[in-house]
Amino acid sequence: MGVRATVRTLFFVVIPILLLAALFLHLKFTCRKTMIPPHLVDQVIQTAVIEDVVGDYVELKKSGSSFRGLSPFTNEKTPSFYVLPEKGIFKCFSSGKGGSVVNFLMELEKYSFPEAIKQLAQRYGIEIEEEEVSPEQRAALTERESLIALNAWAQQWFTKQLHESEEGQAIALTYFQSRGFRPDILKKFNVGYCPDQWESMSVAAQDAGYTKERLLALGLSKDKDGRLWDFFKGRVMFPIRDVTGRFIAFGGRTLRNDKQSAKYFNSPESILYHKGDVLFGIHLAKPAIAKEDRVLLVEGYTDVMAMHQAGLEHVVSSSGTALTDGQIKLVRRYTKNVTVLFDGDAAGIRASLRGVDLLLAEGMNVKVVLFPDGDDPDSFSKKVSSEELKRHIAEEAKDFVAFKMELLSQEAGDDPVQRAEMIHSVMESIAAIPDGIQQGVYLKLAAEDLGMPEDTLQLEINKIQRLKLVQEQKAAKRDAFRNRQAGSQTPPPSGVQIPPNWTDEHAPIPEDRAESPETDANQRMALDHRTVLEYDLIRLLILYGKETLFVDIEAEEQEGSESPVAKDADEAPKKPEQLEVSFAELMLHHLEETDVPLQDVGCQKIHAFFQTAIAQGRLPSSLDLLSQPDTSIHQLVTDLTIIKDVVSERWGEVHQIYPAREADQLHKAMMDSMHQLKLNVNRQEILRVQDGLIALSKEVDAGDETAIQGMRELLEKRKQLDAQKREIARYFGSAILP
Ligand code: CTP
Ligand code: MN
Repeated sequence: MGVRATVRTLFFVVIPILLLAALFLHLKFTCRKTMIPPHLVDQVIQTAVIEDVVGDYVELKKSGSSFRGLSPFTNEKTPSFYVLPEKGIFKCFSSGKGGSVVNFLMELEKYSFPEAIKQLAQRYGIEIEEEEVSPEQRAALTERESLIALNAWAQQWFTKQLHESEEGQAIALTYFQSRGFRPDILKKFNVGYCPDQWESMSVAAQDAGYTKERLLALGLSKDKDGRLWDFFKGRVMFPIRDVTGRFIAFGGRTLRNDKQSAKYFNSPESILYHKGDVLFGIHLAKPAIAKEDRVLLVEGYTDVMAMHQAGLEHVVSSSGTALTDGQIKLVRRYTKNVTVLFDGDAAGIRASLRGVDLLLAEGMNVKVVLFPDGDDPDSFSKKVSSEELKRHIAEEAKDFVAFKMELLSQEAGDDPVQRAEMIHSVMESIAAIPDGIQQGVYLKLAAEDLGMPEDTLQLEINKIQRLKLVQEQKAAKRDAFRNRQAGSQTPPPSGVQIPPNWTDEHAPIPEDRAESPETDANQRMALDHRTVLEYDLIRLLILYGKETLFVDIEAEEQEGSESPVAKDADEAPKKPEQLEVSFAELMLHHLEETDVPLQDVGCQKIHAFFQTAIAQGRLPSSLDLLSQPDTSIHQLVTDLTIIKDVVSERWGEVHQIYPAREADQLHKAMMDSMHQLKLNVNRQEILRVQDGLIALSKEVDAGDETAIQGMRELLEKRKQLDAQKREIARYFGSAILP
């Protein structure tokens, strides 16, 4: 435990120091290019309260002198994300990310440095002297910023039309009033109106200095023979804001009753707006969601507004579309508990069931509430008092699986075919639940309710899971095929080091691998690749082992310090102490923790050599290694040490590893290699599980008990491996497979 605690504290290391150094350089560098004067940048950074800013995205709990929460960068279930207010830094153990408040925003929001600074400045009311923005200056703003500025302008303009223009007041404001919305709610949601006049918004925007291209890019205007017309003409406007409150898109509702045009128009996808990652109302709901530890999910814009009006603020809407993974991840940052509020109509409910399975798959606890007689949350909330609404939501909430069973049972009646379908559909939901224990509980309940043996249902679940794997494989094959067809691989996001053999991930996995002669060759190649990865780590060890890094010792972050005794007793928060460590020591710690044993004999020997030396208080150099009596490692040591200078470029091309890395990126270099190694091992194991499943499939289909048990275990293992794979992918800032 001592070692683990040290390792953990070791992590606190390097990162703050390197990052602060990097930040400093970055500051110097960036400020020269942008219009933000350095003293203002300083002021912003000094003023920003990191736990507040991070608190917008992560529910933080006090833990000693730091704060702790679930990482917003990964899907972790146990919090390993820390904010250290005294030092103004955050550290995420599951993704390895860390740094200042500015780094945090850059990582999470993908802001540029000046964007992050401006965002913070705005938040703390620090005026960034950007004087009158001249045309040249405007051109110099990044595209993103310009688009945000345009949307912000449009929001204000629409709102102004609603409240101040004659047409707006007469038509749109009356409409909102007739629907019973209070003025404070209209204001809170910044709703507006786009006049029914073809081009009034487009003209005003261009007069204000915004370009045609950007109006088109955001979908605010459409082009007809070189002239712009207003896409949202004659509609009341619901601005859509991201999690930090920026206006990124709009929904516009028609005020006509005819069925001619769609009730809602929504902004198209743009670089600001990715529909699948956005939830309407999230910006306003965040604090309430954290407080209630629950989110209410409704269908539409007006439902969200109506809930607020009734005093319920922990509410978001997916805006009419089926829930996406991205949206679920967004709420998952704040809570695991969801209550889905369904509109009353049966068709709508059926369509939504699938989306709810996704919630289950993300490990969320799902309840559902129905509203009577075709009411939606909006209309219902206006018929009853806010107390009654709250009571309805609290008391009518049903567990989702039970709800689905009941609903489908009613529909199926006694028809055996329909009943079988219903059972299958319920089993699909249960199969989606990642937690084995929870799944078991639901299975038991379902067995009781349906009056069927649990084993039979379990068999069905196994089948569903196996089918899913097969489908995944097929999809992977198709992707691989398409990639090859296109003759290109998708480039990684800039700044991301490409994990080796990245495309292998999508390579076809022969379905009948067991018999395939290719299998061995594949495995051998992968093994070779693993050796290459091990070389990369050992190379870093030899080359940079003596490099000194600084590590913070966080006194109170020891495992098991949960005991309430010590907590408040020691009054003053301890200042973290700094420990000087060699890079070699750090790497050995990480290797131990990663728990992936080195396979290559040469690497093992060098690793052991370092271990012994460090235990004796020495730090070996490559010369020491070369003077070892065991000459079998000499060749390897030589190869590894010269590789950097002589063959690095070629090597990098072949293996997509870039060995020529600066010493000051040592920690990252090491973590990259470590994760690449993990990924490789993970891949091997997945193949093994796959083979196992295929080997068992005949017996399983025949109902063989031991085979079924074996398959269950393999499926469980596969789930863990998938989770691990996602985690590794996240480290590299990319998604591997859907
Ligand atoms: N929606 C959409 N396009 C449509 C219909 C609906 O994008 N043609 C989205 C909107 O985000 C809407 C949500 O789906 O808010 C729910 O649809 P619906 O229940 O029809 O709309 P309400 O929000 O209830 O709108 P209203 O109360 O004004 O009828
Ligand atoms: Mn509705």
